[in-house]
Amino acid sequence: MKFKALTAIAALLAAPAFAGGADDDTLVLNGEIEMTTKVAAPAHMAETGIDEIISGWHFRSDETQQLQTDDFENQGMIFVDQGLETWQTVDGSEGKSCASCHEGPESMEGVAASYPKWNEEAGELRTVQMQVNDCRENRMGAKPWKYDAGVAINVEALIASQSRGMPVNVAIDGPVAAAWEAGKELYYTRTGILELSCASCHEENYGNYIRADHLSQGQINGFPTYRLKNAKLNGVHSRFKGCVRDTRAETYSPGSEEFIALELYVKSRANGLSVEGPSVRN
Ligand code: HEC
Ligand code: HEC
Repeated sequence: MKFKALTAIAALLAAPAFAGGADDDTLVLNGEIEMTTKVAAPAHMAETGIDEIISGWHFRSDETQQLQTDDFENQGMIFVDQGLETWQTVDGSEGKSCASCHEGPESMEGVAASYPKWNEEAGELRTVQMQVNDCRENRMGAKPWKYDAGVAINVEALIASQSRGMPVNVAIDGPVAAAWEAGKELYYTRTGILELSCASCHEENYGNYIRADHLSQGQINGFPTYRLKNAKLNGVHSRFKGCVRDTRAETYSPGSEEFIALELYVKSRANGLSVEGPSVRN
Protein backbone atom coordinates (compact mmCIF):
# COMPACT_ATOMS: atom_id res chain seq x y z
CA MET A 1 0.00 0.00 0.00
CA LYS A 2 2.72 2.37 1.03
CA PHE A 3 4.64 1.52 -2.14
CA LYS A 4 1.65 2.23 -4.34
CA ALA A 5 1.16 5.61 -2.66
CA LEU A 6 4.81 6.48 -3.17
CA THR A 7 4.54 5.57 -6.83
CA ALA A 8 1.46 7.73 -7.23
CA ILE A 9 3.06 10.78 -5.66
CA ALA A 10 6.27 10.25 -7.60
CA ALA A 11 4.27 10.21 -10.81
CA LEU A 12 2.44 13.40 -9.88
CA LEU A 13 5.50 15.34 -8.84
CA ALA A 14 7.25 17.26 -11.56
CA ALA A 15 10.04 15.25 -13.16
CA PRO A 16 13.10 17.20 -12.00
CA ALA A 17 12.88 16.82 -8.23
CA PHE A 18 13.49 20.51 -7.79
CA ALA A 19 12.85 21.60 -4.23
CA GLY A 20 12.41 25.33 -4.62
CA GLY A 21 11.03 25.87 -1.09
CA ALA A 22 9.58 29.07 0.28
CA ASP A 23 11.09 32.37 -0.84
CA ASP A 24 12.52 35.00 1.51
CA ASP A 25 10.20 37.89 0.66
CA THR A 26 8.39 39.78 3.39
CA LEU A 27 4.71 40.62 3.40
CA VAL A 28 3.82 44.12 4.54
CA LEU A 29 0.19 45.04 4.12
CA ASN A 30 -0.68 48.54 2.87
CA GLY A 31 2.81 49.63 3.86
CA GLU A 32 1.88 49.30 7.53
CA ILE A 33 0.96 45.84 8.85
CA GLU A 34 3.95 43.49 9.01
CA MET A 35 2.70 39.97 8.59
CA THR A 36 4.28 36.96 10.26
CA THR A 37 4.50 34.54 7.34
CA LYS A 38 7.13 32.17 8.78
CA VAL A 39 7.45 31.19 12.41
CA ALA A 40 8.49 28.28 14.62
CA ALA A 41 5.95 25.45 14.47
CA PRO A 42 3.63 25.06 17.46
CA ALA A 43 4.64 22.44 20.04
CA HIS A 44 1.95 19.97 18.96
CA MET A 45 3.74 19.61 15.59
CA ALA A 46 6.96 18.29 17.15
CA GLU A 47 6.38 14.80 15.75
CA THR A 48 5.72 16.01 12.18
CA GLY A 49 9.29 16.90 11.28
CA ILE A 50 8.17 20.44 10.37
CA ASP A 51 9.95 22.96 12.56
CA GLU A 52 8.86 26.09 10.72
CA ILE A 53 5.35 26.88 9.57
CA ILE A 54 5.08 28.94 6.39
CA SER A 55 2.22 30.89 4.86
CA GLY A 56 1.03 29.78 1.43
CA TRP A 57 1.91 33.31 0.27
CA HIS A 58 5.61 32.31 0.08
CA PHE A 59 4.92 29.65 -2.53
CA ARG A 60 3.20 31.90 -5.04
CA SER A 61 4.75 33.88 -7.89
CA ASP A 62 5.96 37.45 -7.34
CA GLU A 63 3.00 38.76 -9.34
CA THR A 64 0.46 36.91 -7.21
CA GLN A 65 2.27 37.91 -4.01
CA GLN A 66 2.20 41.55 -5.03
CA LEU A 67 -1.61 41.52 -5.30
CA GLN A 68 -1.87 40.79 -1.59
CA THR A 69 0.32 43.65 -0.42
CA ASP A 70 -2.22 46.36 -1.07
CA ASP A 71 -5.98 46.49 -0.53
CA PHE A 72 -6.43 48.36 -3.82
CA GLU A 73 -4.83 45.48 -5.70
CA ASN A 74 -6.37 42.66 -3.67
CA GLN A 75 -9.52 41.68 -5.56
CA GLY A 76 -10.70 39.84 -2.46
CA MET A 77 -11.41 43.26 -0.91
CA ILE A 78 -14.24 43.83 -3.40
CA PHE A 79 -16.01 40.92 -1.76
CA VAL A 80 -15.21 42.27 1.70
CA ASP A 81 -17.06 45.44 0.65
CA GLN A 82 -20.01 43.31 -0.41
CA GLY A 83 -19.82 41.59 2.98
CA LEU A 84 -20.03 44.99 4.65
CA GLU A 85 -23.21 45.77 2.72
CA THR A 86 -24.72 42.50 3.93
CA TRP A 87 -23.57 43.30 7.47
CA GLN A 88 -25.62 46.49 7.38
CA THR A 89 -28.71 45.00 5.71
CA VAL A 90 -31.78 44.13 7.78
CA ASP A 91 -32.95 40.55 7.26
CA GLY A 92 -35.37 38.16 8.98
CA SER A 93 -38.42 38.44 11.21
CA GLU A 94 -36.75 40.50 13.97
CA GLY A 95 -35.98 43.46 11.69
CA LYS A 96 -32.28 43.39 12.55
CA SER A 97 -28.94 43.50 10.74
CA CYS A 98 -25.60 42.32 12.09
CA ALA A 99 -24.85 46.00 12.77
CA SER A 100 -27.94 46.35 15.00
CA CYS A 101 -26.18 44.26 17.66
CA HIS A 102 -22.50 44.30 16.74
CA GLU A 103 -22.16 47.89 15.44
CA GLY A 104 -19.13 48.18 13.14
CA PRO A 105 -17.23 45.15 11.82
CA GLU A 106 -14.26 46.23 14.02
CA SER A 107 -16.15 44.48 16.84
CA MET A 108 -15.08 41.24 15.13
CA GLU A 109 -11.36 41.85 15.77
CA GLY A 110 -9.75 38.62 17.00
CA VAL A 111 -12.57 36.31 15.88
CA ALA A 112 -10.80 34.86 12.84
CA ALA A 113 -7.68 34.22 14.94
CA SER A 114 -9.49 32.07 17.50
CA TYR A 115 -12.07 30.10 15.47
CA PRO A 116 -13.03 27.26 15.18
CA LYS A 117 -13.90 27.57 18.85
CA TRP A 118 -15.96 25.82 21.50
CA ASN A 119 -19.34 27.39 22.28
CA GLU A 120 -20.11 26.62 25.88
CA GLU A 121 -23.85 27.27 25.77
CA ALA A 122 -24.47 25.14 22.69
CA GLY A 123 -21.90 22.55 23.71
CA GLU A 124 -20.40 22.43 20.23
CA LEU A 125 -17.33 23.35 18.22
CA ARG A 126 -18.19 26.25 15.93
CA THR A 127 -16.60 27.66 12.80
CA VAL A 128 -17.16 31.36 12.04
CA GLN A 129 -19.85 30.44 9.51
CA MET A 130 -21.70 28.29 12.07
CA GLN A 131 -21.65 31.15 14.58
CA VAL A 132 -22.93 33.61 11.99
CA ASN A 133 -25.74 31.23 11.05
CA ASP A 134 -26.61 30.83 14.72
CA CYS A 135 -27.01 34.61 14.97
CA ARG A 136 -29.12 34.61 11.81
CA GLU A 137 -31.46 31.85 12.92
CA ASN A 138 -31.74 32.55 16.63
CA ARG A 139 -31.24 36.29 16.89
CA MET A 140 -32.45 37.67 13.55
CA GLY A 141 -35.16 35.17 12.64
CA ALA A 142 -33.44 34.77 9.27
CA LYS A 143 -32.64 31.69 7.21
CA PRO A 144 -29.16 30.21 7.67
CA TRP A 145 -26.87 30.60 4.70
CA LYS A 146 -25.75 27.53 2.81
CA TYR A 147 -22.26 26.56 3.94
CA ASP A 148 -19.59 28.31 1.81
CA ALA A 149 -22.25 30.18 -0.21
CA GLY A 150 -20.92 33.43 -1.69
CA VAL A 151 -22.78 35.65 0.77
CA ALA A 152 -21.51 33.62 3.76
CA ILE A 153 -17.92 33.74 2.49
CA ASN A 154 -18.09 37.48 1.90
CA VAL A 155 -19.18 38.08 5.50
CA GLU A 156 -16.54 35.63 6.73
CA ALA A 157 -13.93 37.61 4.77
CA LEU A 158 -15.18 40.87 6.30
CA ILE A 159 -14.76 39.26 9.73
CA ALA A 160 -11.32 37.83 8.86
CA SER A 161 -10.08 41.18 7.57
CA GLN A 162 -10.57 42.65 11.07
CA SER A 163 -7.86 40.30 12.41
CA ARG A 164 -5.24 40.73 9.70
CA GLY A 165 -1.77 40.66 11.25
CA MET A 166 -2.97 39.00 14.46
CA PRO A 167 -1.45 35.58 15.21
CA VAL A 168 -3.69 32.56 14.72
CA ASN A 169 -4.30 31.08 18.15
CA VAL A 170 -6.88 28.31 18.28
CA ALA A 171 -7.30 26.20 21.40
CA ILE A 172 -6.82 22.47 20.90
CA ASP A 173 -7.40 21.13 24.39
CA GLY A 174 -10.33 20.82 26.79
CA PRO A 175 -13.72 20.31 25.15
CA VAL A 176 -12.31 20.48 21.58
CA ALA A 177 -9.62 17.84 22.12
CA ALA A 178 -11.71 15.01 20.65
CA ALA A 179 -12.56 16.99 17.51
CA TRP A 180 -8.92 18.00 17.15
CA GLU A 181 -7.85 14.33 17.29
CA ALA A 182 -10.52 13.42 14.73
CA GLY A 183 -9.29 16.21 12.44
CA LYS A 184 -5.72 15.03 12.83
CA GLU A 185 -6.71 11.51 11.90
CA LEU A 186 -8.39 12.77 8.74
CA TYR A 187 -5.28 14.75 7.87
CA TYR A 188 -3.19 11.58 7.86
CA THR A 189 -5.74 9.25 6.27
CA ARG A 190 -4.82 8.16 2.75
CA THR A 191 -7.78 8.32 0.41
CA GLY A 192 -8.68 7.65 -3.18
CA ILE A 193 -7.17 5.61 -5.95
CA LEU A 194 -3.96 7.56 -5.41
CA GLU A 195 -3.88 6.75 -1.68
CA LEU A 196 -2.73 10.19 -0.71
CA SER A 197 -3.35 12.04 2.56
CA CYS A 198 -3.14 15.76 3.17
CA ALA A 199 0.26 15.04 4.69
CA SER A 200 1.51 13.27 1.53
CA CYS A 201 1.38 16.58 -0.29
CA HIS A 202 1.43 19.34 2.33
CA GLU A 203 3.79 17.84 4.91
CA GLU A 204 6.12 15.54 2.95
CA ASN A 205 6.26 17.46 -0.33
CA TYR A 206 5.81 21.17 0.25
CA GLY A 207 8.32 23.12 -1.79
CA ASN A 208 8.08 20.57 -4.62
CA TYR A 209 6.10 21.10 -7.77
CA ILE A 210 3.05 19.01 -8.52
CA ARG A 211 2.21 19.42 -12.17
CA ALA A 212 2.57 23.21 -12.55
CA ASP A 213 1.69 24.00 -8.95
CA HIS A 214 4.16 24.89 -6.21
CA LEU A 215 3.08 22.86 -3.18
CA SER A 216 2.68 24.81 0.06
CA GLN A 217 2.03 23.54 3.57
CA GLY A 218 -1.71 23.86 2.91
CA GLN A 219 -2.18 26.50 5.61
CA ILE A 220 -5.54 28.23 6.16
CA ASN A 221 -4.45 31.45 7.86
CA GLY A 222 -5.19 33.24 4.56
CA PHE A 223 -8.82 32.18 4.21
CA PRO A 224 -11.16 33.13 2.71
CA THR A 225 -8.88 33.20 -0.30
CA TYR A 226 -9.34 35.07 -3.55
CA ARG A 227 -8.26 32.67 -6.28
CA LEU A 228 -7.23 33.96 -9.68
CA LYS A 229 -8.42 30.62 -11.02
CA ASN A 230 -12.11 31.25 -10.28
CA ALA A 231 -12.05 35.01 -9.59
CA LYS A 232 -13.96 34.81 -6.32
CA LEU A 233 -13.45 34.15 -2.64
CA ASN A 234 -13.08 30.51 -1.65
CA GLY A 235 -13.93 28.95 1.69
CA VAL A 236 -11.79 26.52 3.67
CA HIS A 237 -14.16 23.59 3.29
CA SER A 238 -14.48 24.07 -0.46
CA ARG A 239 -10.69 24.03 -0.70
CA PHE A 240 -10.53 20.81 1.34
CA LYS A 241 -13.14 19.32 -0.95
CA GLY A 242 -11.13 20.23 -4.05
CA CYS A 243 -7.94 18.77 -2.62
CA VAL A 244 -9.61 15.49 -1.64
CA ARG A 245 -11.21 15.27 -5.06
CA ASP A 246 -7.77 15.60 -6.61
CA THR A 247 -6.82 12.32 -4.91
CA ARG A 248 -9.80 10.81 -6.78
CA ALA A 249 -11.58 10.08 -3.51
CA GLU A 250 -15.15 10.55 -2.36
CA THR A 251 -15.22 13.60 -0.17
CA TYR A 252 -17.16 15.24 2.64
CA SER A 253 -19.44 18.23 2.22
CA PRO A 254 -18.73 21.79 3.31
CA GLY A 255 -20.17 22.18 6.81
CA SER A 256 -19.84 18.47 7.65
CA GLU A 257 -18.63 17.38 11.07
CA GLU A 258 -15.53 15.91 9.42
CA PHE A 259 -14.53 19.16 7.72
CA ILE A 260 -15.23 21.17 10.89
CA ALA A 261 -12.82 18.89 12.78
CA LEU A 262 -10.30 19.06 9.93
CA GLU A 263 -10.56 22.87 9.92
CA LEU A 264 -9.71 22.97 13.63
CA TYR A 265 -6.72 20.66 13.15
CA VAL A 266 -5.37 22.46 10.07
CA LYS A 267 -5.92 25.87 11.70
CA SER A 268 -3.94 24.71 14.75
CA ARG A 269 -1.00 24.02 12.43
CA ALA A 270 -1.05 27.77 11.71
CA ASN A 271 -0.91 28.84 15.36
CA GLY A 272 1.56 31.75 15.30
CA LEU A 273 1.16 32.81 11.65
CA SER A 274 -0.70 36.05 10.94
CA VAL A 275 -4.31 36.00 9.85
CA GLU A 276 -4.19 37.10 6.17
CA GLY A 277 -7.77 36.74 5.01
CA PRO A 278 -8.65 37.60 2.36
CA SER A 279 -5.41 36.39 0.79
CA VAL A 280 -4.69 36.03 -2.93
CA ARG A 281 -3.68 32.70 -4.45
CA ASN A 282 -3.64 31.21 -7.93
C1 HEC B 1 -29.93 40.38 18.02
C2 HEC B 1 -28.51 40.59 18.18
C3 HEC B 1 -27.56 39.95 17.18
C4 HEC B 1 -27.59 40.02 15.81
C5 HEC B 1 -28.60 40.69 14.94
C6 HEC B 1 -26.41 39.33 15.35
N1 HEC B 1 -25.70 38.86 16.39
FE1 HEC B 1 -23.90 37.95 16.32
N2 HEC B 1 -23.90 37.73 18.35
C7 HEC B 1 -24.87 38.21 19.19
C8 HEC B 1 -24.54 37.83 20.56
C9 HEC B 1 -25.35 38.15 21.80
C10 HEC B 1 -23.31 37.10 20.48
C11 HEC B 1 -22.56 36.42 21.62
C12 HEC B 1 -23.23 35.09 21.78
C13 HEC B 1 -22.37 33.98 22.20
O1 HEC B 1 -21.22 34.20 22.56
O2 HEC B 1 -22.87 32.83 22.09
C14 HEC B 1 -22.96 37.07 19.08
C15 HEC B 1 -21.79 36.49 18.62
C16 HEC B 1 -21.34 36.61 17.31
C17 HEC B 1 -20.04 36.15 16.85
C18 HEC B 1 -18.97 35.50 17.71
C19 HEC B 1 -18.08 36.56 18.31
C20 HEC B 1 -16.99 36.00 19.19
O3 HEC B 1 -16.23 36.83 19.72
O4 HEC B 1 -16.86 34.79 19.33
C21 HEC B 1 -19.97 36.42 15.51
C22 HEC B 1 -18.81 36.10 14.59
C23 HEC B 1 -21.23 37.04 15.14
N3 HEC B 1 -22.03 37.15 16.26
C24 HEC B 1 -21.54 37.47 13.87
C25 HEC B 1 -22.77 37.99 13.50
C26 HEC B 1 -23.13 38.34 12.14
C27 HEC B 1 -22.21 38.22 10.93
C28 HEC B 1 -24.42 38.79 12.17
C29 HEC B 1 -25.29 39.18 11.00
C30 HEC B 1 -25.45 38.16 9.96
C31 HEC B 1 -24.85 38.75 13.56
N4 HEC B 1 -23.82 38.25 14.34
C32 HEC B 1 -26.07 39.18 14.03
C33 HEC B 1 -25.97 38.94 18.84
C34 HEC B 1 -26.35 39.22 17.55
C1 HEC C 1 -2.18 15.49 -4.47
C2 HEC C 1 -1.66 16.50 -3.59
C3 HEC C 1 -2.60 17.15 -2.59
C4 HEC C 1 -3.29 16.54 -1.58
C5 HEC C 1 -3.36 15.06 -1.25
C6 HEC C 1 -3.94 17.61 -0.85
N1 HEC C 1 -3.65 18.82 -1.42
FE1 HEC C 1 -4.13 20.62 -0.69
N2 HEC C 1 -3.26 21.52 -2.30
C7 HEC C 1 -2.61 20.87 -3.31
C8 HEC C 1 -2.15 21.84 -4.28
C9 HEC C 1 -1.37 21.52 -5.55
C10 HEC C 1 -2.54 23.10 -3.81
C11 HEC C 1 -2.27 24.46 -4.46
C12 HEC C 1 -0.85 24.88 -4.14
C13 HEC C 1 -0.62 25.02 -2.65
O1 HEC C 1 -1.03 26.03 -2.05
O2 HEC C 1 -0.06 24.07 -2.04
C14 HEC C 1 -3.22 22.87 -2.55
C15 HEC C 1 -3.72 23.87 -1.74
C16 HEC C 1 -4.26 23.68 -0.49
C17 HEC C 1 -4.66 24.74 0.40
C18 HEC C 1 -4.58 26.23 0.13
C19 HEC C 1 -3.36 26.84 0.77
C20 HEC C 1 -3.31 28.35 0.67
O3 HEC C 1 -2.30 28.92 1.08
O4 HEC C 1 -4.26 28.96 0.19
C21 HEC C 1 -5.14 24.14 1.54
C22 HEC C 1 -5.70 24.82 2.76
C23 HEC C 1 -5.02 22.71 1.35
N3 HEC C 1 -4.49 22.46 0.11
C24 HEC C 1 -5.40 21.76 2.29
C25 HEC C 1 -5.41 20.38 2.05
C26 HEC C 1 -5.95 19.40 2.98
C27 HEC C 1 -6.54 19.71 4.33
C28 HEC C 1 -5.79 18.18 2.39
C29 HEC C 1 -6.29 16.84 2.89
C30 HEC C 1 -7.73 16.71 3.03
C31 HEC C 1 -5.11 18.40 1.13
N4 HEC C 1 -4.92 19.75 0.95
C32 HEC C 1 -4.71 17.41 0.26
C33 HEC C 1 -2.39 19.53 -3.38
C34 HEC C 1 -2.85 18.57 -2.50
